[in-house]
Amino acid sequence: MLDRVKTLIGEVGSFETSSKQEIEDFRIKYLGKKGLLNALFAEFKNVAPEERKAFGQALNQLKDAAHEKVRALTEKLDSNQEQTGIYGDLTRPSDPIDLGARHPISIVRNKIVDIFSRIGFTVSEGPEIEDDWHNFTALNLPEYHPARDMQDTFFIEKDPDILLRTHTSSVQVRYMEEHQPPIRTISPGRVFRNEDISARAHCIFHQVEGLYIDHDVSFADLKQTLLYFTREMFGKSKIRLRPSYFPFTEPSAEVDIYWGLESEIDHKITKGTGWLEIMGCGMVDPNVLKNANIDPEVYSGYAFGMGIERIAMLLYQIPDIRMFYENDVRFLSQFTPAL
Ligand code: DAH
Repeated sequence: MLDRVKTLIGEVGSFETSSKQEIEDFRIKYLGKKGLLNALFAEFKNVAPEERKAFGQALNQLKDAAHEKVRALTEKLDSNQEQTGIYGDLTRPSDPIDLGARHPISIVRNKIVDIFSRIGFTVSEGPEIEDDWHNFTALNLPEYHPARDMQDTFFIEKDPDILLRTHTSSVQVRYMEEHQPPIRTISPGRVFRNEDISARAHCIFHQVEGLYIDHDVSFADLKQTLLYFTREMFGKSKIRLRPSYFPFTEPSAEVDIYWGLESEIDHKITKGTGWLEIMGCGMVDPNVLKNANIDPEVYSGYAFGMGIERIAMLLYQIPDIRMFYENDVRFLSQFTPAL
């Protein structure tokens, strides 16, 4: 009998667990009403009188050891839980996080905004769903004007016409309607044209419109601003302006930059000429100023507009415009570093 108690003392001493349930099972097994200790105390009367003292001492020792074990294990469990909390171990290293990348269109847009904000241009925006006035009529494109066919339009409603803007020039009009000169603003945004989708053209793309209106603004101011922009954006300082036509500017021009003919790619993208067209521009037509309540006798200004996709394709040598909208992470993740 005494040997059995001694074995139990050993078992209690070496018992280990970190489970709450197992501690409770242990407590019930030794200290519960129907537990081993009560059962052993009940055996007391069967023990030979000369052995009773030693047996009693051993039983008390077993009881103390069991109590102590339960206390120690519970304390350890509580302190572990305090450390790890409901979130587990807060000091453990976390799983690696996949960093997202900026979309190349955003990178180029941000760079354009940055370049123009350094010379005092603010950023303005307008709605993608436009009315006829802001997209066409106020921009010197009255109804039945043949130049409306320059851009195939997605109409939402007819009479009065509500449409998806075909260019960000509409924001010019909105901005002038709300601000008197001096005006220096660029308007980046998404535009829509009813065109067949191909490697070079999409029905959705992005433009940045620029507008500068003040006293005595001249064509020379426009040229100098464009030169500053092409230097900052492309690191190229040779540009040329070819006479062109836009209904909202007079005179109008298309801007080419000299890209060079050093590599095979240069030959390919410039079609062997070394020159690349990057935007349209001109002096804001007096009719447009009048339409937006700005007096053309007092003020003059220039405007320009460029496509963001085209610039991104040039800078990153992206061969197909459709890649911008496919959301393939293998494509998008390549643009992590800032330009
Ligand atoms: N709105 C023209 C387009 O979408 C681009 C443009 C050309 C904007 C000349 C201008 C400008 O402000 O002066 O093709």
